Amino acid sequence: MCGIFGCITTNGDAAPTIHASLKRLEYRGYDSVGIATINNGEVFIKKDQGKIDEVHKLLNLDDLQGNIGIGHTRWATHGAPLKINAHPHTDCTGQIIAVHNGIIENYAELKTELENRGHTFQSRTDTEVIPHLIEEALKQNPTLTLTQAVVETIKKLCGSYALAVISSKEPDKIVCARNESPLVIGVAQDATYCASDLTAFLPMTNQAVMINDGELVTLTPGAYEIIRIQDGAPVTRKPKTIDWTPEMAVKQGYPHFMIKEIHEQPDTLRNTLRAQEHYLELLSTFLDRATEVFLVACGTSYHACLAASYMFSKLAFLPTYPVYASEFIEQHGKSVNIDSTILAVSQSGETADTLGAVTCSQQRAATVLGLTNTVGSTLTRVSRVYLGQQSGPEIGVAATKTFTSQLSVLAQLALKLSTKRGKVSQDEMDYLAEKLDKLPETVEAIILSQEDKIKQLAKKYRDAKIFFFLGRGVNTATAYEGRLKLMEIAYVPSIAFPAGESKHGPISLIEHGFPVVFICPRDGQTHKTLIGNIQEMKARGASIISIIEEDDEEIKALSDDYVEVPKGIPEVLSPIPFVIPLQLFAYYMAVEKGINPDMPRNLAKSVTVK
Ligand code: G6P
Repeated sequence: MCGIFGCITTNGDAAPTIHASLKRLEYRGYDSVGIATINNGEVFIKKDQGKIDEVHKLLNLDDLQGNIGIGHTRWATHGAPLKINAHPHTDCTGQIIAVHNGIIENYAELKTELENRGHTFQSRTDTEVIPHLIEEALKQNPTLTLTQAVVETIKKLCGSYALAVISSKEPDKIVCARNESPLVIGVAQDATYCASDLTAFLPMTNQAVMINDGELVTLTPGAYEIIRIQDGAPVTRKPKTIDWTPEMAVKQGYPHFMIKEIHEQPDTLRNTLRAQEHYLELLSTFLDRATEVFLVACGTSYHACLAASYMFSKLAFLPTYPVYASEFIEQHGKSVNIDSTILAVSQSGETADTLGAVTCSQQRAATVLGLTNTVGSTLTRVSRVYLGQQSGPEIGVAATKTFTSQLSVLAQLALKLSTKRGKVSQDEMDYLAEKLDKLPETVEAIILSQEDKIKQLAKKYRDAKIFFFLGRGVNTATAYEGRLKLMEIAYVPSIAFPAGESKHGPISLIEHGFPVVFICPRDGQTHKTLIGNIQEMKARGASIISIIEEDDEEIKALSDDYVEVPKGIPEVLSPIPFVIPLQLFAYYMAVEKGINPDMPRNLAKSVTVK
């Protein structure tokens, strides 16, 4: 996730406005920043790695001449967070300049093709193909306008983008376009803006035009023209008046970051599914050769590891050991060796316990692999190979979207490894890959259809003093995560167990009305046994809250309350959709109790002490 911004004005220089607006977009990424302007046919660019304030101190981002410009604040996906990879990027001549948020999936092929045609690239980003493709389109057909050349370019791109382009040959316009990455236009008397979200221009104008996928906009001062990229048809859309306060704008109208991030999951999962094929391949090769594999993490990331251990076992027949990073050295520090492989999972890439386990493993010559949301973090620097989970910055302290992204990447990795090992039939692999691709829609459907019901459940159970969360198989991890969310956000003491273990102790707590949440996917071997576990609890007076597939009448009949997810989810992938109701439940329980879910007491987003 990155932030883009463009400004064309009749009132002075654009750079100070772009700088101030990028600050408001900084929540979308902050590992590097850049601004480009045009003045009297001359292009000015300032960019560097680092946070906006740091780069501004060094370069003075307000000091670029020209009434037109574009800017970018970056969250690295392709290419490390270095100056050379910071946006804006240019073509060979330096006349065409672009910023981009999203991922161009076919950039490697396009880059090779362009290099064969003599183009020279400066960065390792996917974005840089865009200005070069525009340059090439204009070279092939010099009569094209900038807008037409951008249309030609977009037709070659696969993936997601919100992009903004300027050219010193047509210095009176910004061309921007959108596919699966947000883009909104702001219209003022003396200026027009394009941005990743309207927070960026809200202090200047409350007149906003939302842009849809497949649309391209040409901005001139105070005016804009939208077309449909597919057939060039003009689109008429009037600006809407936005009456958000600045605080509401940062959260895009949501009351808290946590609920905003829960709602972002269909999009973050789409992004995650664009995980870099090459790195998946590389990582799975390391795992394939490994003799023993430890999955090491803390908190929510540990739950992703726990789920992954079932995925690796079921799909790739690879035994792996999920370990709490804080326990790793005590538990395995002496035995880990040159034949061990450690896959460290950390959203921040900076958690001290996880890095401690990594250091210990490295000292003992083990192979360290990483999965993180933060390219450029310590974990990416110390891993032999790492995968980026591409969820964008998460502000809420409780991990939500980063958890489902981790699960999605780990599932892709398990599938890749499975292909390599030939353990599962091609039919089953195709089926699982198709279901994985559909998960963003499934998650969208759950949020849309179940959120109100979950709000009511939170009202009903707001005074409950304790909860149980029970699941079997891979959904033991989902149960643990549901418990963690409720405890950390709503301060409700909660217990989670694999459902089969509940009768070895925890069941003694059950008395009339004790709420027990069961995670009940229909596919797989666990459904029948879970019904038995539900009966055991029910017989002792527990209130059963089940997360079930639609039309699971058998469990519905046993439940006091239930939340439904769409049918046909393979068990091995089920933690992704099944955790969504649990995230929403924790959030609404906190809201019911008047607790701010974004700032739970005593917790920190990134724990850098042991
Ligand atoms: C803290 C956060 C959790 C997170 C855990 C691990 O406890 O509050 O949300 O799951 O650290 O963080 P990591 O960045 O390593 O995934």
